[in-house]
Amino acid sequence: MSNIIKLLPDSVANQIAAGEVIQRPASAVKELLENSIDAGATRVDLIIKDAGKTLIQVIDNGAGMSAIDARMSFERHATSKISKADDLFAIRTMGFRGEALASIAAIAQVEIKTRPHEDELGTCLKIEGSTLISQESCQCAAGTNIMVKNLFFNVPARRNFLKSNTAETRHIVEEFIRVSVIHPDASFSLVHNGKLVFKLISGGFKSRIIGLFGKAYDQRLLPVEQKTDILTIHGFIGKPEYAKKTRGEQYLFVNGRFIRHAYLHHAIANAFTELIPSDAFPSYFLNISIDPHEIDINIHPTKTEVNFKDTRYVYAVMHAAVKQSIGKNNLTPTIDFTVEPAIEAALSERPKGEISAPQITIDPEYNPFKTKTSGGRNPGSPSWPTTQDWQKVFTGEVTPREDHVAADQSPEETQGRFFLLQSKFILTGVRSGLMIIDLQKAHSRILYEQFLEQLTGKIKASQQQLFPHNIHFSPDDAEIVRSLKNDLEKLGFVIEALGKNGFVVNGIPADLLETDVEAVLEKIVENHKQYAKDLNYDKNVILARARSMAVNATIKTGNRLSEMEMADLFNRLFACKVPEVAPDGSKIVTIIALSDIEKLMKK
Ligand SMILES: Nc1ncnc2c1ncn2[C@@H]1O[C@H](COP(=O)(O)OP(=O)(O)OP(=O)(O)O)[C@@H](O)[C@H]1O
Ligand SMILES: [Mg+2]
Repeated sequence: MSNIIKLLPDSVANQIAAGEVIQRPASAVKELLENSIDAGATRVDLIIKDAGKTLIQVIDNGAGMSAIDARMSFERHATSKISKADDLFAIRTMGFRGEALASIAAIAQVEIKTRPHEDELGTCLKIEGSTLISQESCQCAAGTNIMVKNLFFNVPARRNFLKSNTAETRHIVEEFIRVSVIHPDASFSLVHNGKLVFKLISGGFKSRIIGLFGKAYDQRLLPVEQKTDILTIHGFIGKPEYAKKTRGEQYLFVNGRFIRHAYLHHAIANAFTELIPSDAFPSYFLNISIDPHEIDINIHPTKTEVNFKDTRYVYAVMHAAVKQSIGKNNLTPTIDFTVEPAIEAALSERPKGEISAPQITIDPEYNPFKTKTSGGRNPGSPSWPTTQDWQKVFTGEVTPREDHVAADQSPEETQGRFFLLQSKFILTGVRSGLMIIDLQKAHSRILYEQFLEQLTGKIKASQQQLFPHNIHFSPDDAEIVRSLKNDLEKLGFVIEALGKNGFVVNGIPADLLETDVEAVLEKIVENHKQYAKDLNYDKNVILARARSMAVNATIKTGNRLSEMEMADLFNRLFACKVPEVAPDGSKIVTIIALSDIEKLMKK
């Protein structure tokens, strides 16, 4: 048999490589912008026509190229950024594969004008489908000006696969954001079909985010800062209340490179658990600076994936950094519990020595999430815990609140402190204004944390015995009930299988009405089905949430709540770990600032 294997011509090899690297106009935009950054540009202008299908032009004031380099830059595997295999683990540039320009030139008509700052004349070069059309010296600005025309002109199949101009433009804007947001030192602009879309002046990270996403972000961001021996995390997260229903502004960078990393995304998202609705997505703009020897970026042609030597370590640091930022900065900082003057007066009338204000030294590094639950923090227990930890977070000071609204308080001490509005809201004065608490949501938070403790085995659920009660489920649901049997027991249900898909319930949680048993069990099964596939799935959280929501629906309205009961609820709520957010992520507590009330009163 004659030999049949041949080396492919460069133009074909380049087209094959281009298939991986340049999937759409936005991929070319990314590569060109990254080249400008690598060239040290402090100014980068991107000009687009017809969603990049007709023209993508990038003008930079970076290093520029000599005539020979300009020609070389379009060869495959030609790069100035690495020269040996070891360099792959010391990469500090965006590019290193030496194939972006070769790929682009294989599938488009490219013109480049480039001049190093120290040279008087530059080079102008035209290349089309990997074929050099012309190269000559020319007058041009220092830096590089590259035009990519008619992308995929020789690959009609690819061209036909492109989406609408709107969709392709969206991809381009996204790539523009990914590069520009993490390089705030450089100024950037984007012009599409003659219209200026972005003009970003150089500045800090936060002002760059604001430049891209709008002024409103000034109030929405919380700083994240974490330094360890191996890495530094720097950036911002969106406050939980601004989490979105769509997976929007989630930007994770490693050494200034945008990357996708499901595991680290989980580390960040998980830090928001319970603070945002389960179907919402937190925003983040976070950069990990790490020694390049600790990572491998040579995984995928688009260079958006990275392996860490010790991923679990990075996960842990990231998770802690985000949690700490939320804990330090966000938890309704306007809430303070310094009591009203009337109550302070009442307290000062007590015989001396009765009040012993705890001595607390303030720890500015305090992170509420690190606090381990001790027996006293169980909101279901009869002696309420001190709220020192909580107060330290919000006020940095300790108030006598524990003394006058503790469980053993006498009625006079809460007299006039709490007011019930429409059987729905508890109103109470705090130093910064009027605090409003949603009664039902407060209940569900208290129950939720109580159930969570039951599920983690910290306290035992109390039970009431029933006349055996039969319940039937569909085969799928019955399977779920069987799999949750142990957990249901911890919540106070005593359930035995009966026949194929039936169950007999012999005991139920003490706080549940017999008539609600079926509805509560169904709710638990339904929630389990809904969230079990979720990456963030935590069986205990889901069960406790379902159970608290189900019970909450049956809670008596507040029209008969005495002040003592309100004070009790108040204390129990603020003994919770996350008192201001309901298990479904909605707000429990709000404060109308005194200044706002004063404004309302003005003529
Ligand atoms: N805007 C620019 N200014 C100065 N030099 C450039 C510019 N763009 C490209 N170059 C030079 O051309 C070379 C080839 O660019 P190309 O994008 O093809 O490869 P790379 O950036 O080295 O690696 P990668 O394929 O991963 O992007 C670069 O190594 C760089 O030396
Ligand atoms: Mg490159």
